[in-house]
Amino acid sequence: MLDGVKSDETLLEVNNIEVIYNHVILVLKGVSLTVRQGGITALLGGNGAGKTTTLKAISNLLHSERGEVTKGSIVYKGERVQDLDPAALVKKGVIQVMEGRHCFEHLTVEENLLTGAYTRRDGKAAVAADLEMVYDYFPRLKERRKSQAGYTSGGEQQMVAIGRALMSRPETILLDEPSMGLAPQLVEQIFEIVKAVNEGEGVSFLLAEQNTNVALRYAHQGYILENGRVVMEGTAQELRENPDVKEFYLGVSDEGRKSFRDVRSYRRRKRWLA
Ligand SMILES: Nc1ncnc2c1ncn2[C@@H]1O[C@H](COP(=O)(O)OP(=O)(O)O)[C@@H](O)[C@H]1O
Ligand SMILES: [Mg+2]
Repeated sequence: MLDGVKSDETLLEVNNIEVIYNHVILVLKGVSLTVRQGGITALLGGNGAGKTTTLKAISNLLHSERGEVTKGSIVYKGERVQDLDPAALVKKGVIQVMEGRHCFEHLTVEENLLTGAYTRRDGKAAVAADLEMVYDYFPRLKERRKSQAGYTSGGEQQMVAIGRALMSRPETILLDEPSMGLAPQLVEQIFEIVKAVNEGEGVSFLLAEQNTNVALRYAHQGYILENGRVVMEGTAQELRENPDVKEFYLGVSDEGRKSFRDVRSYRRRKRWLA
């Protein structure tokens, strides 16, 4: 297959959802996307575009934010899931790694990882084997396993957050802004691990990112959100080569590299919205 994903099977389908906060603030205005089995799907867009809201809508985490899906449907493997609680969705194989890599600061790295196995009922040996699996992907975490998580670096905490999600043996991980606040080299390292987990464990990813450049190098498919709407979608290669994406999101155009200020002041003709 052209984009390198082995399967055509759709795992997750978001159909035309609308999300409203506090009964009045309309944030998602009809978002549709699909996540294919075995793929990495990028959900791109600037700050405030609606990426986190979309991920929270999928895993039913909006209630605590006074948010609500008021239209559309969310379907996982053919089953409507938007009325399930987050724990029930984890049992179905979907887990979210929240923005800001929350970990339990007073627990050690290893204890944090083990909290990810709490829904499992397949015994200690299986959990221990998976801990080793996580350490194979994150050798750094093995070195740091006895350290208190609160004293590890931002990159290590992001690794803990992803590793903890892996301990639930997920089929799909919703990963929110893994690059946030990390130095470029660490961002690359995190994405390399995401790729390795995708290929090695067959875990599918829906990955929200502002860092279009790095996300489109690792993803198979992508969607670009602006102001609560999908304004463009395609294979990662199509998006990387699209002139508007180059100009507005990658900071490069045929006339040469654009400065951030040029892009910000946007001659925002938005050919794709016209
Ligand atoms: N709990 C909330 N109540 C009201 N508005 C919110 C809430 N959370 C997010 N928003 C608004 O929804 C929009 C999308 O936010 P978000 O989904 O966090 O975007 P992104 O993750 O792409 O940065 C923003 O305008 C933000 O201010
Ligand atoms: Mg966000």
